[in-house]
Amino acid sequence: MKLKILVVAGDGIGPEVTGESVAVLKEAAALGGHEFTFSERRIGGVAIVQDGTPLPAATVEAALAADAVLLGAVGGNEFNSLPPDKRPEAGLLGLRSALGGFANLRPAFAFKELAVNSPLRPEVIDGADILFVRELLGGLYFGQPREWNRAAGEAWNTMRYTKDEVARVARVAFQLAMKRRKKLTSVDKANVLEVSQLWRATVNEVAAEFPGVAVEHQYVDAMSMHLMNRPRDFDVVLTENLFGDILTDESAVITGSLGMLPSATLGGKVNLYEPVHGSAPDIAGKGLANPLGAILTGALILRHSAGLEAEAAAIETAVRKVLEQGFRTPDLARSNPQGYTVLSTREMGARVRETVKSQLLAASV
Ligand code: NAD
Ligand code: IPM
Ligand code: MN
Repeated sequence: MKLKILVVAGDGIGPEVTGESVAVLKEAAALGGHEFTFSERRIGGVAIVQDGTPLPAATVEAALAADAVLLGAVGGNEFNSLPPDKRPEAGLLGLRSALGGFANLRPAFAFKELAVNSPLRPEVIDGADILFVRELLGGLYFGQPREWNRAAGEAWNTMRYTKDEVARVARVAFQLAMKRRKKLTSVDKANVLEVSQLWRATVNEVAAEFPGVAVEHQYVDAMSMHLMNRPRDFDVVLTENLFGDILTDESAVITGSLGMLPSATLGGKVNLYEPVHGSAPDIAGKGLANPLGAILTGALILRHSAGLEAEAAAIETAVRKVLEQGFRTPDLARSNPQGYTVLSTREMGARVRETVKSQLLAASV
C-alpha cells in the first residue's frame, strides 16, 4: 500500500508531537511492507515569519497533491494582536476550506488507566466512549458578513448554514452511529437561533433515512452539563462548528487530558488529520507535550485514508498498553501520587513505537 502524507507541523508543540506521530507511522509502514512517503510544508506562525502569510500557496498545492494531511497545531502569543485574517489560525481555516472536509470526527474515549487524572469520579467516566462529529466548514467561522468596525465601535459575525451543509454532515454522523451503538445526539440552540431550528429540522429529515438510529436533541448549554454528569449516555454527538469546538475541548475532562484527543476530517478532496489541542505555548520546546493525541491521529490516517484497520488498531492498543505499564507524560501524571514513570515527548513516542512493533510482529507470526 502506498500513501503520500503531507506533514504541516506548524507552531509550538506542533513539530514535537507530529514528529512522534510520523515516527510511529513509519514503524507501522515498515513492518507491514507499506510505502509511506512524508513531505513537509509550513503553516501558521512559522509561515507568517518565513513566507509572509499563514498559508503559503506551496502548502495548499502540496496538500491537494497528498493522500492525507497531518497537521500539528498553529498559533503563538506573538501573533495575538493581529486581525483574524492575518493570524496563524487563518492558515488552518484556509487549509480546511481548501481541502473541503466538512465532517470532523473527534473521538473521546475514557482510558481506564487515566481515570485518576480526571476531576470527574471514576464511576462517572468509566466506559465513556463518545464520537463527536463537528461540522467544520460552516457557521460563525466562515459566515459572511464579518467585521470589526472600529469607528462605529461595533463588530459582527454571521452564523449561517444551508440545509445541504447540515444534511451532508448529519448523514456522515448517522452512518457512523449505525456502526456503533446506534444513538445520535444532535446539539443546537434551537430555543433561540433560527440557524439551529434549520439544523434540528434537517437532522430530523435525515434521521428518517436511518430508522435504526435513536435520535435525541439537546440544547448546547444543557449538553455541556450532561457531558460532565453522564458522559456514558452518549454515543455519536453531532453539532455545528463553534459548539463542536467548545464541547470537544470539554471532553478532554472525560479523557483526562487535551493531549489525548485525535481528530480526522473527512468528506473533502483530501482528508485532514489533526490532534484537537493547540500549540500550547506554555510548554512548547521543553519535551513536556503529550504526543498521544497526535499518535492516535496517525492511527486515524491508517483507518480512514489507507484502509489499514489492523495497523490502526495496533497503534491504539499500543497506546493503551503503554498507559497500562504506568508510563505518563507530565499532563497525565499531575502531582503523581501513584508514582508513574514520567516520560518526555520523545520517550513516550519511543515507547509507543516499540509496543506497536511487538504488536505487529506478534500478529504476523
Ligand atoms: P492549547 O490547546 O494550546 O492549550 C491548552 C492547555 O492544554 C495548555 O495548558 C496546554 O499546555 C495544554 N496542552 C495542550 N496540548 C497538550 C499536549 N499535547 N500535552 C500536554 N499539554 C497540552 O490551547 P490555548 O492555550 O487556548 O491556545 C494556544 C494556541 O493554540 C492559540 O494560538 C490557539 O489559537 C491555538 N490553537 C490551535 C489549534 C490547532 O492548530 N488545531 C487548536 C487549538 C488552539
Ligand atoms: C480546533 C482549534 C481551531 C478551531 C482554531 C485554532 C482555528 O481550536 O481545531 O479546535 O477553532 O477550529
Ligand atoms: Mn478548539
